[in-house]
Amino acid sequence: MPIEISNIPWNEVEADWLIVGLSESGELQGSLGALDEALGGQLTRLREAGDLTGKSAETLAIHDARGIQTQRLLVVGLGKPDELNLARFDTAIMTAVRQVSDKKAMSIALAVPEIGSGPLSTERSAQAIATAATVGSVGQDLYRAKPGHFPFENVAILIGPGDDKATVQHAVQRGTILGEAINLTRELVNRPAQEIFPESFAARAEQLANDYGLSCDILDEDRLTDEKMGSLLAVAVGSDRPARVVVLEHHGGDVNAATLGLIGKGVTFDSGGLSIKPSEGMKTMKSDMAGAATVLGAMTAIARLKLPVNVIGIMGLVENMLSGSSYKLGDVLTAFNGTTIEVLNTDAEGRLVLADILSYATDKRADKLIDLATLTGACVVALGEEVTGVFSNDEDWSNDVLAAAKRCGEDVWPLPMFDHYAELIKSDVADCKNVGPRWGGAITAAKFLEKFVSERPWVHLDIAGPSFASSNKPHREGGATGCMLHTLVEVAGEFK
Ligand code: BES
Ligand code: MN
Ligand code: ZN
Repeated sequence: MPIEISNIPWNEVEADWLIVGLSESGELQGSLGALDEALGGQLTRLREAGDLTGKSAETLAIHDARGIQTQRLLVVGLGKPDELNLARFDTAIMTAVRQVSDKKAMSIALAVPEIGSGPLSTERSAQAIATAATVGSVGQDLYRAKPGHFPFENVAILIGPGDDKATVQHAVQRGTILGEAINLTRELVNRPAQEIFPESFAARAEQLANDYGLSCDILDEDRLTDEKMGSLLAVAVGSDRPARVVVLEHHGGDVNAATLGLIGKGVTFDSGGLSIKPSEGMKTMKSDMAGAATVLGAMTAIARLKLPVNVIGIMGLVENMLSGSSYKLGDVLTAFNGTTIEVLNTDAEGRLVLADILSYATDKRADKLIDLATLTGACVVALGEEVTGVFSNDEDWSNDVLAAAKRCGEDVWPLPMFDHYAELIKSDVADCKNVGPRWGGAITAAKFLEKFVSERPWVHLDIAGPSFASSNKPHREGGATGCMLHTLVEVAGEFK
């Protein structure tokens, strides 16, 4: 999808749609004023009639715009100027893009709002627009005869005469790469378990690694057995689909520089195993590999952006099924780092997968770790469907991740890691058990993971809620969201 940058005046640009932002209570000044004038004062009249409010993400479409070169105009509200941030801007632009991508091969022009500096500089806005145009024009349409959204024939991002085209070009390229990575993650998560299973996921990862110059190592069952990943292998044993671990490396930094480890839970289907889930809870469990898909997407973006850092991405891929060979309640597993685990619920499988690959990451000399996992329903109970839970053993590292998420407009919230939670996963027969009591389930899961990070700075992101949306909203498609990918790339960009 071609995205170009232009400084043609808004009323002179040619496209099927012109999209401009308007703040609540803001004057029709600058380019917006000129546009209003070209339209013969139509915007002023709509405003006076109360039909054009500028309220956050509210849209007004004019299908037969007169006096300008585009046939259609979409005005999207940016809300109160002092409340405008990247998250609100994203929501507004995504809403607009989703609205105008409902027909095939549209060309669109989107104006960077003339608000200047701060978190919404021209570059940052242009980047967000490029990401939104890329993500918002792809729907959950993999298997439908009549798609709901279509990629654009052309996208023009309109900047002011004083803006530096080369810098904006760079931002747009970055935004596009991020958008494509998010779409890749979304696609993998949206594809059902009949298509995405450990081997097919690994094959796709290998292909992408070749395309983008990442080094790639795929551990099959024999290697996983040699490496003694007894915890991950136990989850996979009940399935006809053999386990895989994918290790991708990006060597963008100095040989002696620190390595960032990104670790993803990749349960390609979570039936719950012998502790089987009811149908209602199982319906969306093709999405239980969202952590791994996000790590894969982020690694492609990090490679394509040629970030000057060293990053290792590790994805633990298994299918959690029931059969005569399934792992059982009471089984005692030995993880990669030698810790023994009593299994008391086979549906608490994500932590068993992560146990091995977290310690494998520290063995591979990852200095700081971030894991992503659709780990617990308890986290969704605590924070709702839209917010990622953050757990950590290191305040500085956790603050870095929280700050990056804030800059990216992604909603995250920290949960506590007091020592006493660890008491709840003590076992009578092994070093620990894989499940605690009902209350505080997101935290006991995190305390379990903490045992496998070799005391390296580590952040655990529980994305069980926000990684998969139950319904469409004006600003985003239902299904996979690609949440936290942007934040991972942001963290990598400033990693030292
Ligand atoms: N994959 C689920 C968690 C999940 C729930 C993800 C809802 C997305 C939406 C995980 O493997 C799981 O089953 N967790 C159990 C843990 C329990 C058995 C301790 C849960 O949350 O019920
Ligand atoms: Mn489970
Ligand atoms: Zn799971």
